[in-house]
Amino acid sequence: MTPDEQKKAAATAAIEHIPVGCIIGVGTGSTANYFIDELAKIKHKIDGAVASSDTTAKRLKSHNIEVLDLNNIDDLPVYVDGADEITEHLHMTKGGGGALTREKIVAAVARKFICIADQTKLVKMLGNFPLPIEVIPMARSYVAREIALLGGQPALRQNFVTDNGNVILDVHSLQILNPIEMEEKLNQITGIVTNGLFAHRAADVLLLGSDNDVRTITLQ
Ligand code: 5RP
Repeated sequence: MTPDEQKKAAATAAIEHIPVGCIIGVGTGSTANYFIDELAKIKHKIDGAVASSDTTAKRLKSHNIEVLDLNNIDDLPVYVDGADEITEHLHMTKGGGGALTREKIVAAVARKFICIADQTKLVKMLGNFPLPIEVIPMARSYVAREIALLGGQPALRQNFVTDNGNVILDVHSLQILNPIEMEEKLNQITGIVTNGLFAHRAADVLLLGSDNDVRTITLQ
């Protein structure tokens, strides 16, 4: 299977994990888009969805899937989303599409995070993919200097504003030996809204499209 076929196969496999009569958290990106299209086929079995971006909300609505406000929901059994990188510990880098803040919020509320990905996303160590960081615009230079002190090389994502009105710094060459520690360190820098490390709230299940099938990886 090509990477795109692997994404679609992982997205299709995720449908088997969707409980009947529930609200579903939905991620952002090309893999999540495949999932939305599959979810549309069983929309009569769910009560609606919470979207992690304006783009996802638009796609859900185009399939006549009701999009609900997270503030009106007290239980979210499942969140399904892609990743830019994921390790065997199910720690992830996310935010390639710039939706990391809302993704992290929906993931925090969800009882179960199902990551769907093609096999190129599975890595031994995070950091090859530049780490996206959402920053309040007036803090951009300060945050960039603080990140340089941690050994990273931040680059402002050009012509991009997040759904929350902020900017993204893509951090190159950051050594992420301990994703939980690094996520904590970045959370301490004033002006950072969200960093793209999903280690505290890792995935619970990885559905990984591979050459011939979809592998299910969970923590032992
Ligand atoms: C968007 C994300 C995506 O999940 C991540 O970028 C993966 O995207 P794709 O499924 O297109 O490979 O975090 O902010």
